[in-house]
Parts: sequence; C-alpha cells; structure tokens
Amino acid sequence: MSEPVVSQAAEPAVPRHVAIIMDGNGRWAKARGLPRNLGHRQGVDAVREVVRGCRSLGIRYLTLYAFSSENWKRPQSEVSGLMDLLRLYIRRELKELAGGGVRIRVIGDRSKLDADIRDLIADAEAQTRDNTVLTLVIALSYGGQDEIVAACRRIAEEVAAGRLQPEQIDAGVVAGQLHTVGIPDPDIVIRTSGEQRLSNFLLWQTAYSELIFVDKLWPDFGQQDLAAAVAEFQRRERRYGGTGE
Ligand code: IPE
Ligand code: IPE
Ligand code: MG
Repeated sequence: MSEPVVSQAAEPAVPRHVAIIMDGNGRWAKARGLPRNLGHRQGVDAVREVVRGCRSLGIRYLTLYAFSSENWKRPQSEVSGLMDLLRLYIRRELKELAGGGVRIRVIGDRSKLDADIRDLIADAEAQTRDNTVLTLVIALSYGGQDEIVAACRRIAEEVAAGRLQPEQIDAGVVAGQLHTVGIPDPDIVIRTSGEQRLSNFLLWQTAYSELIFVDKLWPDFGQQDLAAAVAEFQRRERRYGGTGE
C-alpha cells in the first residue's frame, strides 16, 4: 500500500503535567450567601471533573494545590472543614481512583496534619503506588519556600558530613531533595478566580511553566475549561531562553 500523499500536520503536544491553583471557593460561596465551607465542598466536584478530564486528554500528571502552608492561618472552623473534606474525598474516591489507574502522591509538610489524615494519605499512596495512568499529586500543607529551605538543610547536612562537595551541588541535586522528586516539572499552571500570582506554589518547578489565568471561580471550573487551557498551551511557543528558531 502506498503512503498518503498529503503530509499530515503533527498532533499538538499534550502537556505531560498540569498543575492547578484551585482558587475562588470562598467567593463562589459568598456570591450565593453561603458559608465559605460550602464553596470548598462544591470545589470537590470540580476536582472530580478535572481528574476525569486529565484521563481523557491523556495528561499523565495532575498537581492540585489543596492547602498552602499559609492557609493554616485561616479560622479554625474553615481549616477543620477543609481537613474534613480531604478525609471524605480520600475515603470516597480512593476505590475509583485506584481502579482507574491513578497513583496518589501528597507533597507538603505532613507533620502539621492530624495523625488520622497522615495514615489515610500513607494508605492511599501505598495502595496506588503501582498505578501509571495518571499521577495525582495533592499539595497539602505545602509551601514552595518551605520545600526549598528543607532541601537546603538536607544538602547542607550532606556537605557537613563530608558526603558531598559544595561544587557538586547543581540543579539536579537540589531537585532531588524536593518533594516532587521524580515528577516532571509542570508544563502548565492554571490559576482560577482571576488572581494572578503563585502564592508559594511550586516555586522551583515552575521556572518554565506556561501560566494560564482563568477568571472562573474554582467550583465553576470543568472539563471544557481544562481542554481550553490545554488548547491555549498548544498555541504558545516555549523558548526556554533560546530564540525559537
Ligand atoms: C481556594 O479557595 C481553596 C483554598 C485556598 C483551600 P479560597 O478559599 O481561597 O477562595 P477565595 O479566594 O476566598 O474566594
Ligand atoms: C492559594 O490560594 C492556595 C490554594 C489554592 C490552596 P489562596 O487563596 O490561599 O492565596 P492568596 O492568599 O489569595 O494568595
Ligand atoms: Mg483564595
């Protein structure tokens, strides 16, 4: 059989890793005269949608910023409401996620979490560790600066112990000490709710991520919005400091 004469345009690249700053739950609730925690509850539906969307688009890594190192300063009732939602999410969704080939990984400072949540997370990670369809990274009690500080400390310990020479420290050594070791850097960072900042999210890993800001509030974000962000990514030219030639 002969080859087709018309040359086919290359398929646009599917991003390997999408990271999302899920913002706007509080404003979503406020606009409806509801307590903020109901906004967070509604946000869980959007999480479900986006996980499905990633699987159908063939995205291999999804990182969700669920709770920052600074979010601990919110009122106690809101913090415990968010932690309850996390418990509920893992308990309810683990079976479906595990069955669908999703691997769960949690990044952040676990020492601040309640013991039962730490156990739930450890169990979810263990149960899904061999899954390869999609890695769902949940950033929980996570701060990019904390992560880099902790990495510096471990590297300094290695140097102090004589196991590492200062001149051996390079980007790879630093990346190897981050919570995200083994996870490719995000191709896209999406932030909902119209805010245009990183709020201490993946500071090292986003060096060359494409930033996409969406006005929709997180509970209103769905699979079509994810697909639109991917399409926007595909229209951009990544140059990594080069000339793009
Ligand atoms: C994002 O929504 C969820 C978390 C930070 C946990 P917010 O709670 O920040 O919602 P807004 O920004 O107040 O609307
Ligand atoms: C960032 O949102 C953290 C998460 C989405 C988990 P925030 O609402 O906490 O960020 P700021 O305070 O507006 O920067
Ligand atoms: Mg917010």
